[in-house]
Amino acid sequence: MTSPARSTNALDAYWMPFTPNREFKRNPRMIARAEGMYYFDTKGRKILDGAAGLWCANAGHCRKPIADAIARAAAELDYAPGFQFGHPTAFEAAARIAALAPPGLDHVFFANSGSEAADTALKIALAWHRVRGEGSRIRMIGRERGYHGVGFGGMSVGGILNNRKMFGPAMLPGVDHIRTTYDREHQRFSKGEPEYGAHFADELERLVTLHDASTIAAVIVEPMAGSTGVVPPPKGYLKRLREICTKHGILLIFDEVITGFGRLGAAFAAERMDVIPDMITFAKGVTSGAVPMGGVIASRQIYETFVSDDPKRPDQVIELFHGYTYSGHPLATYAAIATLDLYRDEGLFERARKLEPHFEEAVHSLKGHPLVADIRNQGLAAAVDIEPRPGAPAARGFETMKALFFEEDMMLRVAGDTMAFSPPLIVSPDEIDRLVAGLRRALDRLT
Ligand SMILES: Cc1ncc(COP(=O)(O)O)c(C=O)c1O
Repeated sequence: MTSPARSTNALDAYWMPFTPNREFKRNPRMIARAEGMYYFDTKGRKILDGAAGLWCANAGHCRKPIADAIARAAAELDYAPGFQFGHPTAFEAAARIAALAPPGLDHVFFANSGSEAADTALKIALAWHRVRGEGSRIRMIGRERGYHGVGFGGMSVGGILNNRKMFGPAMLPGVDHIRTTYDREHQRFSKGEPEYGAHFADELERLVTLHDASTIAAVIVEPMAGSTGVVPPPKGYLKRLREICTKHGILLIFDEVITGFGRLGAAFAAERMDVIPDMITFAKGVTSGAVPMGGVIASRQIYETFVSDDPKRPDQVIELFHGYTYSGHPLATYAAIATLDLYRDEGLFERARKLEPHFEEAVHSLKGHPLVADIRNQGLAAAVDIEPRPGAPAARGFETMKALFFEEDMMLRVAGDTMAFSPPLIVSPDEIDRLVAGLRRALDRLT
């Protein structure tokens, strides 16, 4: 049914994602151009990017080697089918990504986003158990407050209320959740990994007792939960989760869509935290956000179970019935290689690690502000929880995000009443200080 009264607003046709459309179209926050650490609005106003766009522009914006690589791909090989055919750059990009992953994780399946990466990993987990003759392992375990994108799989294992409640009947059956690792009472204002909470991993044992290990395929967690507002894992938590998964033959998937490619000062959180999962999902930073790309890094053991030298299998039989038209798209694979070159040549992961102490001190200097309820940080990611306005959850966060954009010329990510920092890894100490000072002033005005 069409409405008889069509809007005359020029912005009307675009149904914006995860945005209050009505408010935006009254008061647009429009971005026209980007360079390095900065966005520019349509009037040329310079805006300091404290969010790497959406946790993705880790190398900074509009980096020339990446732009050149994309242009080269567009001129040289606009598209090549990924089913039954390949192109050299896809293989090279896979090898480069695998080389950054922890030992044993060395096969890369390409998708186009974090959501597709999560769904791909879940499907691989289900299929892997079936191929091994354990087809009863059909349950998947996520975690409260987890974010794994918006596909049916990722939404089901995800644990963010607003992303789930409208779609209840479409949740995958058999999914369960362990509790969040966040416990404000015991962790408030922790710097980095909190001391308290390793025992929250034991929840998985409880679910094994409830459902039986023979029904559980995989557990998926973000090593550091990002979208919910930067929740670093308690010390020892991930190791314990790994041990319980290994004990019960459950696959462990780390969703590293945010934590991958330097956000925590290492190629992957798995490396920094010294815990090796069975699969890693990635997206965002792999191309510094310049071209959509995502994927799954699977262990050799998983890959070889599918792609074994079974003499009885006819040549034409496909091992995994899964893939996307744009899996390994040339624009994305060229961009990924150029991005990984930049990370290596400019030492950006190491740079993030070196900046971490300064960043940590800077964001924690907001402790004591009357509106600040908690602060968390790890790597070059941090979150500041603002005291909600009574009766109006998320209002202060929303107002702060707008005040930062319009009055402080800077951008942070907002999630409810939480403001998240995740600047590009090229950020300078001075720019970190400016981001924190901008947030402080915006909060002062709200007090
Ligand atoms: C951990 C995690 N997984 C998956 C996703 C979904 O990625 P996309 O928006 O590219 O589908 C995100 C996005 O923020 C994420 O943070």
